Amino acid sequence: MSDELTAAIAALHAGELVAFPTETVYGLGADAENPDAVARIFAAKGRPADHPLIVHGAAADILDRYAVDVPDDARRLADQAWPGPLTLVVRRSARVPDAVTGGRDTVGLRVPDQPLALALLAGFGRGIAAPSANPFGQTSPTCAEHVRADLGDAVSVVLDGGPSRIGVESTILDVTGPVPMILRVGGLAAERIEELLGADVDRVAVGPSRAPGMLAAHYAPQARVELSCAPGDTREHVAAALTRGLTVGVIATAARSEFAGAVTFGPVADTDDYARNLYVHLRRADALGLDVVVAELPPANGLGVAVIDRLTRAAASRRGAQ
Ligand code: TXA
Ligand code: MG
Repeated sequence: MSDELTAAIAALHAGELVAFPTETVYGLGADAENPDAVARIFAAKGRPADHPLIVHGAAADILDRYAVDVPDDARRLADQAWPGPLTLVVRRSARVPDAVTGGRDTVGLRVPDQPLALALLAGFGRGIAAPSANPFGQTSPTCAEHVRADLGDAVSVVLDGGPSRIGVESTILDVTGPVPMILRVGGLAAERIEELLGADVDRVAVGPSRAPGMLAAHYAPQARVELSCAPGDTREHVAAALTRGLTVGVIATAARSEFAGAVTFGPVADTDDYARNLYVHLRRADALGLDVVVAELPPANGLGVAVIDRLTRAAASRRGAQ
């Protein structure tokens, strides 16, 4: 076992915080069974205490340790989709402290598909409660440098597993009701979940059709995010921003697109590449101090659904140039 991993496990036993890679985004972890350690996560992130945390485990037997009344659907999905980017919301067992769930009687559980994360979880031997390792409301980190920049001081150890393979957070599926319900679209496409279950799932309604004020401002960079559905649309957004004297970047989906006066991010090769680099591009825009990022939307299938969801929420943020 590497020195880093040994130090991370010792830090978790001591009730300290450890940042670790997952295939989706980096997590800010603490011993899920230690309420004082869990409280440190909320303090480090500036996160409201009623936002529940996901408990991560090394294998599907976390369902036995941390859940009760586990429905067959959840067992089936755990068998087939774990390790992987799926969080199952199930009824919690008495082992899960109130601090993790904000007092709810359900808990989100997930087995991440990342070797270093699995080694950490197996070595620690208990669940690790972990939100994404970013200050509340901001973009999630997809590499160790992001975490060090955002939360370095609060974390005892940052495990570096390289860039996250998927780049957007896990899909959250609530299996406590009569029909499984997607609470957050993410790394596992709804189509795939339906295929595994052999049945339809519901999805909590969010999206561009809602008034921006109705959307939780989240996943947001400092720059204002504007959504574009086509290159012509992008040119209009860029021109409008430049006219107002603002600096502007474009996350481009078409290989040959160039926008005079704007910094181009990408072009993204495909939807998976878009997901993997979404937060990288948004963070680079902030590093460059850009006022506006015009994001061309990917097709609404596969990971594109999660990318559109995150960009829509980022665009609904009140932060950035007005
Ligand atoms: O990919 C991911 O899910 C990453 C990595 C680190 O695993 N984690 C992550 O955690 O994105 P966080 O805390 O940033 O987002 C978890 C979301 C929150 O919106 C929270 O409200 C929701 O999951 N959640 C957690 N437990 C829940 C529960 N019992 N019921 C409903 N929502 C829950
Ligand atoms: Mg988060």
